[in-house]
Amino acid sequence: MFASIEELSEKLKLAKYVIDEVTLKVVFLAARMRKPLLIEGPPGSGKTELARVVALAAGTQIERLQCYEGINEEKAIGKFDESLQRIYLSSQSGTFGGDWTSLRSGLHTLDFFVEGPLLRALQYEAPCVLLIDEIDKVSKEFEAELLEILSEWQISVPKLGTIKAKSKPFVVMTSNEERRIGDPLRRRSLYVRFEHPTIERETKILGLRTTTQHSGLHGELAGFAHALRGYKLEKPPSIAEMLDLAEALRLLEADGITAVMRDVLLPCIAKTESDRRRLLLRDGFESLVFDTRRYCEELSGRGVSA
Ligand SMILES: Nc1ncnc2c1ncn2[C@@H]1O[C@H](COP(=O)(O)OP(=O)(O)OP(=O)(O)O)[C@@H](O)[C@H]1O
Ligand SMILES: [Mg+2]
Repeated sequence: MFASIEELSEKLKLAKYVIDEVTLKVVFLAARMRKPLLIEGPPGSGKTELARVVALAAGTQIERLQCYEGINEEKAIGKFDESLQRIYLSSQSGTFGGDWTSLRSGLHTLDFFVEGPLLRALQYEAPCVLLIDEIDKVSKEFEAELLEILSEWQISVPKLGTIKAKSKPFVVMTSNEERRIGDPLRRRSLYVRFEHPTIERETKILGLRTTTQHSGLHGELAGFAHALRGYKLEKPPSIAEMLDLAEALRLLEADGITAVMRDVLLPCIAKTESDRRRLLLRDGFESLVFDTRRYCEELSGRGVSA
């Protein structure tokens, strides 16, 4: 997928994804070693986005399996299209000479199968990116099913048979750790841990991902995010919320966060009633704005443009 680490780095830069040196190398290794990447970390820390930008960087398609509780093989792998099979049967009725075996095998081919993302991912001539998003939502049984795909690069479907991969996809699995992923899947993967970004890193991300030209605001928002995450909220805001906040400030034509804007900005950053109440406490928001200024001063003291 990528000839060198430098090539991957350049392409991720073009895709506006901020990545540290170590993670960059691990992504490169995963692509080269044909190992799935298992990324765990808090919401909004860039797990899903990494899969998207790797596909973009490799100039390939992305197949996405969005996991949820109760997901089954039909959704993930696919199922026979019964109505199409019926149409086929009725079209054959005039010519049917009693050959049940060939009729049955004719009906159970990929032509009559609606492929789900897992099966589609194995059908590409050149490797695609297979994103198995929020894998912590699936049951242990479903997880076990994934093992065949990830270790044998094939899928066995009753009546259809075993479908071998034309190319091995680059697999990215993400988890918010709602349930612990089993060890067999972990052992087959390269494990990466994402955390909320540092102020410097978030300043960079906001600079790349917002339309606001006011560069001082990126550092201010990153400092504000850092202050919010230290405020013991039930749902600390992620990068995604800070991007929303940047957009809100742009639309409000505000070039900084001030305590008087609290009520208008709260919907962007407080996502539960208890967090909203905490941020409405007297001095709560004001102290955050104060901390933000302090972080920004520290940053410029270290020579980082904020
Ligand atoms: N390293 C990064 N570089 C550039 N943008 C980033 C980065 N990390 C996060 N983002 C931005 O934050 C947004 C949210 O990231 P993403 O959806 O990947 O989070 P996630 O970890 O998958 O969260 P969740 O667990 O809620 O699904 C992205 O759409 C992107 O705009
Ligand atoms: Mg995600």
